[in-house]
Amino acid sequence: MGNAMTAARPGAGLKTEKMPGHWVLARMGKRVLRPGGMELTRRMLAALRIGPSDEVVEFAPGLGVTARLTLSLRPASYTAVERDEAAARAVRSYLGGGARRCVLGSAAATGLHAASATVVYGEAMLTMQTEEEKRRIVREAARLLRPGGRYAIHEMCLRDGVEGEARRDVERALTGVVHHGVRPLSISEWRRLLETEGFRVTVTEEAPMALLEPARLVRDEGLVRALRFACNVLRDGEARRRVFEMRRVFRRHRGHIAAVAICAVRG
Ligand SMILES: C[S@@+](CC[C@H](N)C(=O)[O-])C[C@H]1O[C@@H](n2cnc3c(N)ncnc32)[C@H](O)[C@@H]1O
Repeated sequence: MGNAMTAARPGAGLKTEKMPGHWVLARMGKRVLRPGGMELTRRMLAALRIGPSDEVVEFAPGLGVTARLTLSLRPASYTAVERDEAAARAVRSYLGGGARRCVLGSAAATGLHAASATVVYGEAMLTMQTEEEKRRIVREAARLLRPGGRYAIHEMCLRDGVEGEARRDVERALTGVVHHGVRPLSISEWRRLLETEGFRVTVTEEAPMALLEPARLVRDEGLVRALRFACNVLRDGEARRRVFEMRRVFRRHRGHIAAVAICAVRG
């Protein structure tokens, strides 16, 4: 792999063994990095009902897979806020100008105007934050939205009853293999987080957390890209170790974790 290509990839400056898990997967050619896959993304977008009059903000677009779906709905404007420079560049490469942009920065303090959006959403980006940072990001979504605006999240969740030591076990195991904080909430905790920041939850959808299962890989990436991903993983010893380790832990905890999409309206 040439330097120019490596430099353009998220996490490029890091060694595979140190890289956050999502960038290991991206490096191997995976583009869909959210726990409920494209099917839950589609259900989230259906609940958001994005149309031509909407001013949309996406937090943490990653490689921009959902951005493309949103753009196909022709909203009045689309602004992504991504903190990784290489990911932001990848998203910009197909925005095509006009009222479509991707700004580099944190979703917790976007610098965008208050009440400038009718729709805000973010996927697989709150789970990796501390409790305080989760709240700052949800509060920022509320600040950006006009009253009546819609906010959606798509995140990992803990299944009912996973508490105390079991919960700490799950967090420790996930954080250990992803090499980044992984702190999922239960569905009622996610809902409460949104509600305490002034949102009224309208839709809650669930899916299994099957990010690295073969059937999900094919559904999310398509057969050709899924096969290419598998070949890349098998060829690269360190990536193979990381990906298999993540899948082992996801499988071991499949009774404890799932994926959830929640859509809410700002009061
Ligand atoms: C697991 S990836 C998910 C990417 C994409 N949303 C998806 O579902 O495929 C996490 C993404 O969140 C971005 N991110 C994490 N914290 C962020 C923050 N505070 N502000 C903006 N982007 C953030 C990372 O750079 C990365 O692109």
